[in-house]
Amino acid sequence: MFNLEGKKIVVTGGSRGIGAGVVKALDSLGAQVAFTYSSRKESAEAVLKELSGNEHMITQLNLSDEESITTAFKEILTKFGQIDGLVNNAGITQDQILLRMKTDDFDKVLNTNLRGTYLCTKAVLKPMVKARNGSVVHITSVVGQMGNPGQANYAASKAGVEAFSKSLAKELGSRNVRSNCVAPGFIETEMTNELSDDQKQKLIGGLALERLGSVDDIASAVAYLLSDNSSYITGQTIAVNGGLYV
Ligand SMILES: NC(=O)c1ccc[n+]([C@@H]2O[C@H](COP(=O)([O-])OP(=O)(O)OC[C@H]3O[C@@H](n4cnc5c(N)ncnc54)[C@H](OP(=O)(O)O)[C@@H]3O)[C@@H](O)[C@H]2O)c1
Repeated sequence: MFNLEGKKIVVTGGSRGIGAGVVKALDSLGAQVAFTYSSRKESAEAVLKELSGNEHMITQLNLSDEESITTAFKEILTKFGQIDGLVNNAGITQDQILLRMKTDDFDKVLNTNLRGTYLCTKAVLKPMVKARNGSVVHITSVVGQMGNPGQANYAASKAGVEAFSKSLAKELGSRNVRSNCVAPGFIETEMTNELSDDQKQKLIGGLALERLGSVDDIASAVAYLLSDNSSYITGQTIAVNGGLYV
């Protein structure tokens, strides 16, 4: 129904998981995509090889290192000339119950997920505001909405990104720059592949749609928010969680 022809889009953490699924969907809808990896360059190159378009690029970016973010976006802007969309996808977990959580692990997750989102978003704002056009999509989590034992740091980081996104939407709406979140529930990725069948069945028991989500389920929502078909939507969160939290 919609396409992304002519749009230049950056996806952080496109080397695997949800990010790789998003990159492939954007490619199939005609976008030119720049996507990043942190350490697994070969994974990013493998994703790049699978794409049909030949204008895409990959670059290294570490969310906890401001200089690496500045360098990566400079390189992308030099090649692309413009950025129409940004998907703040890369993120980490460092789970532990609060009683045992180390302050370093709290800081690491907040720095990567929340501060990293702030830095990447800031890097694209000037070109977007200048062009009076832009869509920023943040991948948050159902955990940021409902909380989860052992994930106080991660939940706080994702709830923080949602609040950040709403503020951005209000600040930049007059410049036609939109900001929205996609909040996945449990999605089949490397992370959930590690769960035993028993654990998976327990998880699925709590889902209205009685299945784990796929990366394509997330990619469809992201592509919609990047497209002009969602041009009147900003400051929102689309929950893609199979009815885990309604
Ligand atoms: N999977 C789920 O069920 C689920 C549910 C809710 C929300 N989410 C959210 O969805 C997003 C993607 O999750 P995922 O499960 O697809 O993750 P993943 O499979 O662990 O992939 C993470 C991606 O982020 C990159 N990355 C990791 N640490 C980084 C850092 N410090 N700086 C820059 N990039 C970094 C990785 O690059 P390398 O490959 O080079 O390491 C990789 O491309 C995350 O924000 C996550 O919180 C996931």
